[in-house]
Amino acid sequence: MSVRLNNIAKQFGDTTVLRDLSLDVTKGELFTLLGPSGCGKTTAIRIVGGFILPTSGDVLIDGKNMTHIPPEKRNSAMVFQSYALFPHMTVFENIAYGLKVAKLPTAEINQKVERALTMIRMERRKDRYPSQLSGGQQQRVAFARSLVVEPHVLLLDEPLSNLDAIMRIEMRLEIKRLQREAGITTIYITHDQSEAMAISDRIGVMNEGTLVQVGRPEEIYLYPHNEFVARFIGATNLFRGKIQMDGSVPVLTTAEGVVIRGESKLTHRITPGQEHFASIRPEAIRVPSGEPEQPANLVEAVVTDREFQGSHLQLHLKLAKNHAVPLILNLPNTLDNLAIAAGQKLTLNLLPRAIHFFPCN
Ligand SMILES: Nc1ncnc2c1ncn2[C@@H]1O[C@H](COP(=O)(O)OP(=O)(O)OP(=O)(O)O)[C@@H](O)[C@H]1O
Ligand SMILES: [Mg+2]
Repeated sequence: MSVRLNNIAKQFGDTTVLRDLSLDVTKGELFTLLGPSGCGKTTAIRIVGGFILPTSGDVLIDGKNMTHIPPEKRNSAMVFQSYALFPHMTVFENIAYGLKVAKLPTAEINQKVERALTMIRMERRKDRYPSQLSGGQQQRVAFARSLVVEPHVLLLDEPLSNLDAIMRIEMRLEIKRLQREAGITTIYITHDQSEAMAISDRIGVMNEGTLVQVGRPEEIYLYPHNEFVARFIGATNLFRGKIQMDGSVPVLTTAEGVVIRGESKLTHRITPGQEHFASIRPEAIRVPSGEPEQPANLVEAVVTDREFQGSHLQLHLKLAKNHAVPLILNLPNTLDNLAIAAGQKLTLNLLPRAIHFFPCN
């Protein structure tokens, strides 16, 4: 089933929480709403589930206007950020609840619940009450309870926030697999960028009650439309300055006189002299030992800090000629790279093909 939000607005008293939110989630898609705390994600997903009425705008499920239809008639299931398990029911009873309401035969209920218990690895805890479980265990029960009813629309509000790092990665793979196999249209909420990129077909980045960019994870990461998205989706280096064309190549010059050349593949038309940002991700900066990979944007920089981050080495630097300009850079863990120390001067190659330009607002 497809889900569509048409110009949703929500006010609580005189506080505007959602502003003109429109969204199209196609059948079978896993769509993530990603944004900082308080931007309105929970409010939006609760409106889809029917737990909150919008102040204006419509919710369409499979093309039908469901704005005023109660939650239990929407063919959707929701995992709440606060789990909302029934405290007086055991794990087994919590998971079985929706199936009992649907009056399924007992044998079938038992079979479905046992399968769900295996999936969340809680077989041995099925007789416990929610108060006897850790936060992560409760979260898994809430997830299983939503999935056993085989909803057409699954709404997951930060379903992994209380799990440890290893369990999070296992569960997100499991969610993705189950969601894809059953073709359940899913709206997923997180404020974890890497989780959003790993799991989603598309991501909608939210800020202050509205969507600021919608796209596939690669699009959002590589081609952010504005400063908020560029900074929110992972670390980046941003240079602000005036843009000019050198033939077909965009060139940005910052107030400090740093010159950044791109490649002739702008994603939008520019007005020469307009204020732009040039964004380059930390992993797209090279430290050439011989011939640079793309002989442009060679800058001298001094290492101010180094952080060993396991999978890579992260360097914090400042441009040698202008100490006001900080940079971060991720390097592979080679022995040569690991020998780099604070205070060292390096020549950096800001790869022109990895530079993305977008206008300042
Ligand atoms: N019932 C309510 N009455 C008044 N304000 C509310 C109500 N519910 C939410 N808000 C406000 O709306 C804003 C958005 O809340 P919401 O829970 O949707 O954010 P969120 O993006 O889910 O944040 P988080 O990542 O912290 O869960 C917040 O500023 C919150 O205080
Ligand atoms: Mg929330």
